Amino acid sequence: MTESTPPSGLLPSELLTEAGEQLFWTLNSLILRPDQASFSALELRTLGQDRFREHLLNWDVPLGQLVERGLLLKDGHHFTFGPDAEPVLTAAMAHFFGKTLVGLAASPTFKQYNERVHGQDLSQFDMADMAQLSALLGALHLSPNDTVLDLGCGLGGVCEYLQAQSGAHFTGLDFAPPVIAEAHRRTAGHPRLHYLVGNMDTLDLPNASFDAITAVDTLYFARNLPYTVKRLAELLRPGGRMGLFWSVKPNAGQPRQGPDNTRLAAALKATGLPYTTTDFTVSELALWQRSLEAAEALEGEFKAEGLSDDQLNVVLEGRRMLENPEFHSRFLYVVQS
Ligand SMILES: C[S@@+](CC[C@H](N)C(=O)[O-])C[C@H]1O[C@@H](n2cnc3c(N)ncnc32)[C@H](O)[C@@H]1O
Repeated sequence: MTESTPPSGLLPSELLTEAGEQLFWTLNSLILRPDQASFSALELRTLGQDRFREHLLNWDVPLGQLVERGLLLKDGHHFTFGPDAEPVLTAAMAHFFGKTLVGLAASPTFKQYNERVHGQDLSQFDMADMAQLSALLGALHLSPNDTVLDLGCGLGGVCEYLQAQSGAHFTGLDFAPPVIAEAHRRTAGHPRLHYLVGNMDTLDLPNASFDAITAVDTLYFARNLPYTVKRLAELLRPGGRMGLFWSVKPNAGQPRQGPDNTRLAAALKATGLPYTTTDFTVSELALWQRSLEAAEALEGEFKAEGLSDDQLNVVLEGRRMLENPEFHSRFLYVVQS
């Protein structure tokens, strides 16, 4: 089985600075929103402020470089993405995900943090707690003969856990080569665990090749969610199942989303496949609370280990996630083909 790797050669090394990294994360959230074809410097900065808070850096240099390279087109105070921006953004995101995740996985304090938050270190990044993973396994009824695709597997710890619990054959796919290298390193020779560099925007895999698909907090990153969900449906064999986690944190003032009016629900409806949902909003908020308490308790140790501001921001994400908790929602979508 092969998959196309992200075009990392497209990524100019001059953009791989900390300020460039912040800018790319922010641009990535914009390119994912079809209503944001054009945006002002102020809108961009406000998004950055929301995400990076007191760690927000000056972006003048990377912004100028992106404009110079034609990746951003500037018209007065407004920007649009240049025609070649998308693959560069994908390569940048794969690079930064890889750097952040592999860096955190090497941190002994991150292991302690995960043990406090989840009771078990699977190198997971908040999101699904152990009860949610049990619910996922319970819903998919996996048997040792099943083949499962874990989309956006990250470092693979969750994938390995699901494999060990079910006995099924798992293929973990992620677009960040360093996380796949790390997963390979840890599991080399395992007969039922395979890892693959691949992009959920293309999913260039044979149709009808999996009995089940899991996606633990990854579908948010699909550039064209209806397309990715349609491809996932095509990858399933008849009788196949999907278990997909999806959280929503709308801006203050927007209504809380129910299970049938999320972007994922719309994409699933478009495939015509029936789904059921389980509401995990309450357990997600409890998880963010544990996450914040653990991150604050261990902040000194993280800093002593030399964690970068960006990595620290990832573990302190609970601060942002616990704002306006009444607007949150989180669901497990289980799809039967
Ligand atoms: C929030 S992490 C979740 C990781 C893992 N599922 C877990 O629960 O620990 C999101 C993952 O999606 C991956 N990802 C983001 N965009 C992707 C894409 N276009 N194709 C494949 N993987 C992607 C990232 O590299 C990252 O590992």
